[in-house]
Amino acid sequence: MTNILYATQDDNSFITKFEYGAMLYENPRGIGCNKCHGNGKKEVIIAKYRNKKGALKYIKAPPINNVNFKDFKSKLRADKTESLVMPTYFLTDEELESLYFYIQKLK
Ligand code: HEC
Repeated sequence: MTNILYATQDDNSFITKFEYGAMLYENPRGIGCNKCHGNGKKEVIIAKYRNKKGALKYIKAPPINNVNFKDFKSKLRADKTESLVMPTYFLTDEELESLYFYIQKLK
């Protein structure tokens, strides 16, 4: 399973699906997933603010290693996410699969 090989575009080296996923996690042509989701295993508080009434509010990035592939794919393909905090990405099916494969290994 882990020895499926992918060629990277910029050089001719071959890397495993896991390594490819790890690379995409930090550099998905946009803000790295790790910037908000940390290591993906637990909730991360990415911002704190006070609302008009002075109550403390949090913007949180949820853990992402327990999401099924269907939901994962639809989240990563959404034009807009619920929170409007998570950015939109333009990843291919192959990239999404490698990314998902990598995130599952974080369990
Ligand atoms: C700027 C911060 C930010 C970045 C960068 C980010 N996310 Fe998120 N993500 C969030 C927030 C906030 C939520 C929860 C609210 C929402 O869905 O919009 C979320 C939700 C998710 C969910 C849904 C989790 C669930 O329980 O339904 C998945 C899956 C996910 N992110 C994966 C990723 C992946 C993979 C990347 C990188 C390609 C990424 N995120 C990059 C902030 C971020």
